[in-house]
Amino acid sequence: MTVEDAGLETSVLRAVTSSEVEEYEYLRSKEQILKGASPVGFVTSPTSTKKCDFAVFDYATDYVYEGQLLTVNHNNTKAIGLVSNLFAATRGATTDVLNYFSSLYGEIPHLDQNMRFGELRLYGIPASPGVRRLSHPPKPCSPIFVANREDYEALFRDPERDGEYYPVGKIRETDYPVDLDASAVLRLGVGIFARIGMGKSVTTAANIVGMDSLKQKINVIVWDHTGEYATSNLDRLCSNFQVMSSRELPVVPTEAKDIVKTLGLDVLPSQARKAVEVAADIFVMDFTCGAAELSPDCFMSYVNQWLDEFYKKDGSISAWSSAIRRRVKILGGHIFTGGSVEQYNMIWKRVAGNILVIDASSDPLDARQAKIGTIADLILRNRYPIHLVIDEAKNYLPEMGGSYGQITVGKPYLCSGKITSLSEEGRKFGANLTIINQRISRISKTVFSNLSTLFCGCLTAANDMRAIEDYTDFPEIQKILPRLGVGEFLIAGMATPLKDPLCVSIEKGDIQLGYGGATVFELHKSFAERNGG
Ligand SMILES: Nc1ncnc2c1ncn2[C@@H]1O[C@H](COP(=O)(O)OP(=O)(O)OP(=O)(O)O)[C@@H](O)[C@H]1O
Ligand SMILES: [Mg+2]
Repeated sequence: MTVEDAGLETSVLRAVTSSEVEEYEYLRSKEQILKGASPVGFVTSPTSTKKCDFAVFDYATDYVYEGQLLTVNHNNTKAIGLVSNLFAATRGATTDVLNYFSSLYGEIPHLDQNMRFGELRLYGIPASPGVRRLSHPPKPCSPIFVANREDYEALFRDPERDGEYYPVGKIRETDYPVDLDASAVLRLGVGIFARIGMGKSVTTAANIVGMDSLKQKINVIVWDHTGEYATSNLDRLCSNFQVMSSRELPVVPTEAKDIVKTLGLDVLPSQARKAVEVAADIFVMDFTCGAAELSPDCFMSYVNQWLDEFYKKDGSISAWSSAIRRRVKILGGHIFTGGSVEQYNMIWKRVAGNILVIDASSDPLDARQAKIGTIADLILRNRYPIHLVIDEAKNYLPEMGGSYGQITVGKPYLCSGKITSLSEEGRKFGANLTIINQRISRISKTVFSNLSTLFCGCLTAANDMRAIEDYTDFPEIQKILPRLGVGEFLIAGMATPLKDPLCVSIEKGDIQLGYGGATVFELHKSFAERNGG
């Protein structure tokens, strides 16, 4: 068999035999490797169209890692695939390699290199966008390269949909940009998960800057739980950017049962409870169409009317009425504010063609939950095509199953049902969610399973791994996720062209979120000084 027969490029042979020292040095050049000009390894056997085993040259081990994209040259085509199981030595591969070279040279060659072995999950041939299926498995010894810029562009961008993509980062350890398909982000939803401090909010901000850079007009609300986006420099980085405080929005009830529960009236004995429930139902109906005002007196007039009705035969209702009025006075402060749903109209005006950050940090948690619930409800009812971004989502969409039900905070029932409906039904009219949280298992499974693109950073909890595993059908993920550093995410789903995850370093650029810049000592010192220490 000749070299040409094997489809083996001479550069591979040079790299392996490495007798020409100069060439060998040349081949080690990082630039050449990252450009995809020098091979990093070659296919060992056996191979299929879905998967192949490969060996990595000693000099290239720094540039080949789990989750990276590599290309295989064979039959004058280029297949692209993702590295997995790099650390599991493929048994028998060394013998395969030696046997192969012995068939080339007639003797067992001396390879003065330590090869590493891995598995390449083959996607197919890059096909602008996405991939075409491979018809034949790559031959043994086909050279393998780091995928280059053209390979990525072919994967990521549909030439017919120019202008519908935005960059979020680079393939880890390369300078190849990763572009997301904005239509999949906006329409189908995104989840961003990683342990504390691993760069979720910066990743969210990178997505916001990216969406802002689109030529199309889009409507995005960022519900800013901690105020870190409102106090960031995103106003400088985005051209269509607005900030408002959630204080400008009243808490308004959208569901009668929320009022009953918030006032603690669900503990009343059955007859009185029934009366209050009916009263609350009718009150909310009237309120929604502007026929009732959000005041304790107005609400009590409904309650009294229905208590009368229920206690007609038994006489006085005054004891119930005054007990309920006390609850309204003590617990109803956030409900009976005199506000109206009309006040939410300012949101739609400000979000039109903009990124609108609603700073919710100065509201009590219950009020934040109620307000975002109203926003989700109004988006759904009016079928507004708006993308809603929710950081610290455990406060709004907690998983209530198992033992988690006991560790919820505030009154998540004020919003979780409405946000869930939005995630289930919004797609049809162009609305959806970006959900950001530290743990996957702590947010609602229903909402999680509707998210079509996932960013997963460093995660270590077994529950979270399992959730991701189910989601991506990518078992190797357990090895990759705990090793990711700050700002490194696996991205998988509809906004990328591949079904399997890509390993991406998110581009922080100039993004500075609120409280940013200060070291932990500066923060402590400023507290100490403010308090006379
Ligand atoms: N892509 C990145 N490149 C460089 N530094 C980053 C990147 N992403 C985040 N960081 C740094 O890591 C720190 C934490 O980032 P960020 O606030 O986004 O984390 P988080 O995951 O949202 O944390 P939390 O769970 O507390 O909300 C910040 O100081 C930020 O500067
Ligand atoms: Mg954060």
